[in-house]
Amino acid sequence: MKLKHNETAFTRRKFCKTSAMVGGGLLAATLPVGVSAQVAGSDSIKVALVGCGGRGTGAAIQALSTEIPVQLVSMADAFQDRLDQSLTNILEEFPDDKGKVSVPEKNRFVGFEAYKAAIDLADVVILTTPPGFRPQHFEYAVNSGKHVFMEKPVATDVPGIRRVLKAAQVAKEKKLNVVVGLQRHYQTSYNLIYDKLQAGAIGTITAGQVYWNSAGVWVKDRQPGQSELEYQMRNWYYYVWLCGDHILEQHIHNIDVANWFIGEYPVSAQGMGGREVRTGPKFGEIFDHHFVEFVYPSGAVIASQCRHQPGTMNRVTEVFQGTKGTIDMSTNSIKSFDGEELFKHNARKDPNPYQVEHNRLFASIRDGEVISNAENGAYSTLTAIIGRMATYSGQVITWDEALKSDKSLVPANLSWDSQPPVMPDEKGLYPIPVPGKTKVL
Ligand SMILES: NC(=O)c1ccc[n+]([C@@H]2O[C@H](COP(=O)([O-])OP(=O)(O)OC[C@H]3O[C@@H](n4cnc5c(N)ncnc54)[C@H](O)[C@@H]3O)[C@@H](O)[C@H]2O)c1
Repeated sequence: MKLKHNETAFTRRKFCKTSAMVGGGLLAATLPVGVSAQVAGSDSIKVALVGCGGRGTGAAIQALSTEIPVQLVSMADAFQDRLDQSLTNILEEFPDDKGKVSVPEKNRFVGFEAYKAAIDLADVVILTTPPGFRPQHFEYAVNSGKHVFMEKPVATDVPGIRRVLKAAQVAKEKKLNVVVGLQRHYQTSYNLIYDKLQAGAIGTITAGQVYWNSAGVWVKDRQPGQSELEYQMRNWYYYVWLCGDHILEQHIHNIDVANWFIGEYPVSAQGMGGREVRTGPKFGEIFDHHFVEFVYPSGAVIASQCRHQPGTMNRVTEVFQGTKGTIDMSTNSIKSFDGEELFKHNARKDPNPYQVEHNRLFASIRDGEVISNAENGAYSTLTAIIGRMATYSGQVITWDEALKSDKSLVPANLSWDSQPPVMPDEKGLYPIPVPGKTKVL
């Protein structure tokens, strides 16, 4: 399937051209109707934060740090302590400009339904919960006519992907901006190399290797008195319904670069994986390594590997071989096959792509333009899900059969009395996928 680059493209040149035009009157005059009405009154775009953890706190600070008048007006989290800590951290960033952060007690919402009330109060919504909840939150935000910044991955299962794709279409019809936190699309080095690739620097990509090999991430210990659901929500990284496994949660960045640079989504995947080092109850049910071959319609093959094992080789990057030369994103360089360096970029002074994402989002809202990242976010998430299906099952998984899957991992209506979809045995261990036996479709 071909990527529609015109839909995911950001408006870099336009942004540069118009970024000097900020001013209350101009801002109100150029905003879409729903937003301009709000801005005309307060001169600020109102933002809601849903999912007040590490990334959400960072994203809110970035939203408040663009050159556009933006005010954080509401927050929602499953847990009160996470919301309180996030608000403290955000306030600390703006000691001299407290008006930017105006979240009175009545605008702080806690629990599974908290997102609705927070979203209702805003023009722009930041969605940064664990990805299992993203489809539900994105759908509500779009149906409510809000612009969205949402983190990757955008779902953990295929029914969630279809829900995001449907909402992405509605967002386009309503001319709502949607930026997805696949920040390499907003990173100077990736865009420079992509432009060279488009100009024919290495010919056509025939193969590549993409990596997220690291020691792993945080893990939370079970606390006395916690229900199984609360424990899984706190330790969400290790449960597939919440996180999707690390092939989605982190490695999606590298897989998405492969899709972007090749200009297609894969037709099929096959691979292998398991857990050798990260075993035991607190590591839930996810694998600690995956290796997948993705085959693209053009015939290109991408070898994708991600590993969470301390003491092993660390590598997070992408490498591509074309008909005329190679790209190595670890050095931001392009070489011919005889080793001649055709291009190299020194990224030391490049802007922070996490900030650029928000600069572009708010500039696009101000200028009445539309960024539509949701469809690509959904398809790159689906690519990673297909990789996971391949490693869990040991089978060849095709794009078309995966996209039809009705296997839903996320329960429809959760409350604190609910039992999560996976439960531990008497030793505290969870069922782990077994290649050759586990059915994923
Ligand atoms: N683009 C990047 O480089 C990048 C970096 C880090 C994280 N992320 C993404 O951001 C998301 C969040 O990651 P994080 O590191 O901030 O995790 P985190 O655990 O620090 O934060 C998640 C927050 O969401 C809250 N939450 C959980 N379920 C909720 C619900 N139903 N409603 C409201 N709040 C809920 C949690 O209580 C927590 O405060 C993930 O999708 C992750 O992949 C992206």
